Amino acid sequence: MRDQSQLQHRDDPALHAARRARLAEIVGSDGVAMIAATPERNRNNDVDYPYRPNSDFRYLTGFLEPEAIAVIAPGFDAGDYLLFCRARNAEQEVWIGRRAGPEGAMADYGADRAFAIDEFEDWIDRLLDGRRKLYLTLGTHPEFEQSVLDHLSALRSQGRGGVPPCELAVLEPVLHEMRLRKSAAEVALMRQAAATSARAHSAAMQAVRPGMYEYQLAAVLHYTFESDGMHWAYPTIVGAGENACVLHYIENSAPMADGDLVLIDAGAEYRGYAGDITRTFPVNGRFSEAQRELYDIVLAANRAAIEAARPGAPMNAVHQAALHVLVAGLIEVGLLAGSVDDAIAEESYRAYFMHGTSHWLGMDVHDVGDYKIDGEWRALEPGMVLTVEPGLYVRADDNPTSRFANIGIRIEDDIVITETGCDVLTADVPKDADEIEALMAKPYRSETP
Ligand code: GLY
Ligand code: MN
Ligand code: MN
Repeated sequence: MRDQSQLQHRDDPALHAARRARLAEIVGSDGVAMIAATPERNRNNDVDYPYRPNSDFRYLTGFLEPEAIAVIAPGFDAGDYLLFCRARNAEQEVWIGRRAGPEGAMADYGADRAFAIDEFEDWIDRLLDGRRKLYLTLGTHPEFEQSVLDHLSALRSQGRGGVPPCELAVLEPVLHEMRLRKSAAEVALMRQAAATSARAHSAAMQAVRPGMYEYQLAAVLHYTFESDGMHWAYPTIVGAGENACVLHYIENSAPMADGDLVLIDAGAEYRGYAGDITRTFPVNGRFSEAQRELYDIVLAANRAAIEAARPGAPMNAVHQAALHVLVAGLIEVGLLAGSVDDAIAEESYRAYFMHGTSHWLGMDVHDVGDYKIDGEWRALEPGMVLTVEPGLYVRADDNPTSRFANIGIRIEDDIVITETGCDVLTADVPKDADEIEALMAKPYRSETP
């Protein structure tokens, strides 16, 4: 039975307070940092997309409403942490939804002082005054950023407001370096996202039948996500047959035929943290000989890559491990000719494996953080979370007579680097072909929450 107390949407305020304290140390007593929540986006006419703030803003504040600005100003007389947000509004709250208002921002979100968003203009000059260095986002919310820079220019050119900052720093790389290493509390959240994502994939394996539509299988996954109080972290990919060879296929509109493999790439988001799993399995419950031959190559690549993921290893060691197994397999089954080294040097494998093996995973599915430092692949460290997702795709257009035509396979797990190696967060959903077939043979019963 799932713990219902874990299904609440509110983030833990202590997490955000600790992050702001770390940022305040970097910003220093002579600096100030400012970040805005990204704007709402219109879908059509008077319908907006459900709001989800930019991850950097959520990471620092836990505040989930649009039209908000956070300021970290260590030693500022009104408080180190100021939050500007929408004022309470009785009518809007009847029609649209509740608002924290400045009162709630202080009571529930840890702001030292909070004000209505319209008051930011009244505070900006005071916030810049006397600070040597301004940390500002660049490209996250251009309108907000431009308005801050306009104030800064005016202060500097008119000599108003004392001593405005003379040094500008881009805030995102500072936050991204922080976000790259996950704390134990963050890893615990990611385990929740991974567990629900894994349960959803297992449910899909049990529910699939020839003749079902891809969107119906997506619905099985989404039912599991929503039953756990979650939502997808990125649009779900369900591609059967040739659709499995389209990497980011999200139409999910075709019927799935007896004999097809279906590739599902789907993950749930839990309190802002993403799961990202891909599994590939036969629509009729049994892998054909050709499907299994290719599947076992991708599985071996997935396992070799996970084996290579350990602290101190360069990030691309994971990809290299997968690549060697995939290329050796492609040669073995006759899809590539020549030697492994030549195929890798010439990149002839890219006809079948055209993406990387890993990306950082966190609040964004393709999470932030540099992959290279000074041109060198960065070394993996405990707390870094990444995906391992080798794949092979044999497009019928390019391989019309191949017995592997229309087979697309990806096997994607989420791993966290530990002190000694790595921990697979997504181990709950089977990936061994025999285990998948055994699970698929069990009847599907949708779990009610
Ligand atoms: N779901 C997107 C990816 O695997 O990169
Ligand atoms: Mn991925
Ligand atoms: Mn994925």
